[in-house]
Amino acid sequence: MHWEEEGELRRTSAGEATHEGNWTHNLSESRQTRILVRHSGLAASTGRPQIIMKVAVIGAGNSGLISIKCCLDEGLEPTCYERSEDIGGLWRFTPEVESGRASIYESVVTNTSKEMMCYSDFPFPENFPNFLHNSKMLEYYKKFVEKFDLLKYIQFQTIVRSVKKHPSFSSTGQWEVTTEKNGKQDTTIFDAVLVCSGHHSDPYYPLEDFPGINTFKGEHFHSREYKNSKAFNGKRVVVVGMGNSGADIAVELSRTAAQVFLSTRRGSWVMSRVFEHGYPWDICFDTRFQNWLRNTLPTSFVIWLTEKKMNAWFDHANFGLQPRDSTQFKEPLFNDELPSRITCGYVVVKPDVTEFTETSLKFEDGTSVENIDVVIFATGYRFSFPFLDESIIKVKDNKISLYRNIFPENLEKPTLGVIGLIQPLGPIMSSSEIQARWVTRVFKGLCTLPPPDAIRKDIEKKKEIAMSRFGPRREHTIQVDYIEYLDELTTDIGCKPNILELLTKDPVLAFKIIFGPCTPAQFRLTGPGKWPIARKQIMTTWDRIMKPTKTRVVKSQDRSSMSVIFGVGGLCILALLLAVIMYKN
Ligand SMILES: Cc1cc2nc3c(=O)[nH]c(=O)nc-3n(C[C@H](O)[C@H](O)[C@H](O)COP(=O)(O)OP(=O)(O)OC[C@H]3O[C@@H](n4cnc5c(N)ncnc54)[C@H](O)[C@@H]3O)c2cc1C
Ligand SMILES: NC(=O)c1ccc[n+]([C@@H]2O[C@H](COP(=O)([O-])OP(=O)(O)OC[C@H]3O[C@@H](n4cnc5c(N)ncnc54)[C@H](OP(=O)(O)O)[C@@H]3O)[C@@H](O)[C@H]2O)c1
Repeated sequence: MHWEEEGELRRTSAGEATHEGNWTHNLSESRQTRILVRHSGLAASTGRPQIIMKVAVIGAGNSGLISIKCCLDEGLEPTCYERSEDIGGLWRFTPEVESGRASIYESVVTNTSKEMMCYSDFPFPENFPNFLHNSKMLEYYKKFVEKFDLLKYIQFQTIVRSVKKHPSFSSTGQWEVTTEKNGKQDTTIFDAVLVCSGHHSDPYYPLEDFPGINTFKGEHFHSREYKNSKAFNGKRVVVVGMGNSGADIAVELSRTAAQVFLSTRRGSWVMSRVFEHGYPWDICFDTRFQNWLRNTLPTSFVIWLTEKKMNAWFDHANFGLQPRDSTQFKEPLFNDELPSRITCGYVVVKPDVTEFTETSLKFEDGTSVENIDVVIFATGYRFSFPFLDESIIKVKDNKISLYRNIFPENLEKPTLGVIGLIQPLGPIMSSSEIQARWVTRVFKGLCTLPPPDAIRKDIEKKKEIAMSRFGPRREHTIQVDYIEYLDELTTDIGCKPNILELLTKDPVLAFKIIFGPCTPAQFRLTGPGKWPIARKQIMTTWDRIMKPTKTRVVKSQDRSSMSVIFGVGGLCILALLLAVIMYKN
């Protein structure tokens, strides 16, 4: 392949947006001095040589795969490096833990539903369940890679060891990426880098917080090492930390262990995947209308309403689960079985651990549990970028300064973005996609970043908002409001649905967009990347939600006749009430 430097700014197609703003202005200047042009590739519309930026994608998990596709959609040339032997990242279960890659237990099922977490123009097969076992997720990613022919862009068993600024970075924005395969190192120059290395592979294991742990004679390990319950038959187990991992593991072990104790400092709301009327929780929760209500109504009222809703299933205080500070919306647990395992006594909830002895654990409330065989620390993860110098991205106690959770704060050129380092109250998968769509357009100069001062202010403002909504804990440093976040990026891309316009032109669709789930297809209705099937996809969302569960069809006639009976009954009662009121007056 022959590459040559080009002396003027070229564009992929006529009529694309002009560059404005500080960073983009610099980017244009740099491109004027060195844009890579492949002579064999002429843009069909203009007959001019095409700009082809070389982009390194680090990791072939959910974020890496969609980043490769977004690069291709924008006419960029991706090379993806994946340290393991296959795609899927976290969603590829292996019986052994692999260094540097997230490790899941055999039974992991998604806690976000298929309609919400699919890539926007690649829905899950209709017959897939709403919440998916990890093997089904991997199957989906394999289908995705096949459909868009992505495999040829991925180099497996290749670890990215370092990403350094090229000596000419301040003018070119280029990076030197050093990789290692079979012990041999290689350095390649790229025009841009997408960091998609995940944030669930480095365990947070704060043993120093647990006095006496060194005297404990039983086994202890981090939840990352947990694979299944086979080895725990008849054992007395304590699970420390009640995030989704801790709750899942406690419930699973409670079927084989003699007794399971689940220790939590703060407690948590527990939600069922099966939410209102049996629909997936996120389908009901992540609607534009609900989001608008949550962000518009007085905070105290929202907190009151949330507590009421969460306690409608069971009273959290009676189960020892009530969050310590319910003003902050910690990521809920999604666990349909936890209350049942507690009420049957298989799982006993305990407060924070204060001390370990050789065989027992003491808790904050003065109680203790004896003869403990195993302690599993489900204390979460920390994120890091071992291949990047601290001058580029600095992480301290899971705190990081990225513009829109993507761009490092102090880069002279916006040519390195982090994808997937985000914790939305919704799926990470579709959030990664919107990030990748936006970043690739920033790389191309079609979307612009504000000047450095405005970037700094925005980062600070977002940190303050996150602090007030989600609290100061290390698990919530990258938490965002799902719809708000996506709308911000898609406004820039130009693919946010124009609801006001739709209300006049297509009110039925507008209704679905306002009151229905905010599914990824909403961002394919208009603008760059418009997908002709997006409207149909939105209109048929509920059919696909029902398809995998409605496997024994109940005659609709029976249900409608019942509705008529209830309807008429209701009207009669209303008429009777009115009559009584009028009679009394
Ligand atoms: C148990 C569990 C369940 C979850 N369930 C959900 C869910 O239901 N819904 C949801 O939205 N989110 C969920 N998440 C969050 C999860 O992080 C995302 O769903 C998603 O998998 C993240 O994808 P990713 O590509 O960003 O990271 P990963 O899937 O972790 O992929 C990162 C890839 O980068 C590779 N890599 C890392 N470093 C290097 C390097 N130096 N060189 C080369 N390759 C490298 C790794 O090998 C890996 O393949 C869950 C997390 C956990 C831990
Ligand atoms: N699909 C699924 O079903 C599924 C399953 C597992 C995980 N996940 C996802 O994976 C991500 C990671 O989940 P996770 O549960 O592994 O981690 P997590 O959400 O970060 O939870 C870790 C928990 O550990 C506790 N903790 C941390 N430090 C502690 C200390 N020093 N002492 C006592 N407790 C401590 C915290 O408890 P307190 O809150 O009490 O402070 C926290 O809730 C989450 O986004 C989660 O949703 C999804």
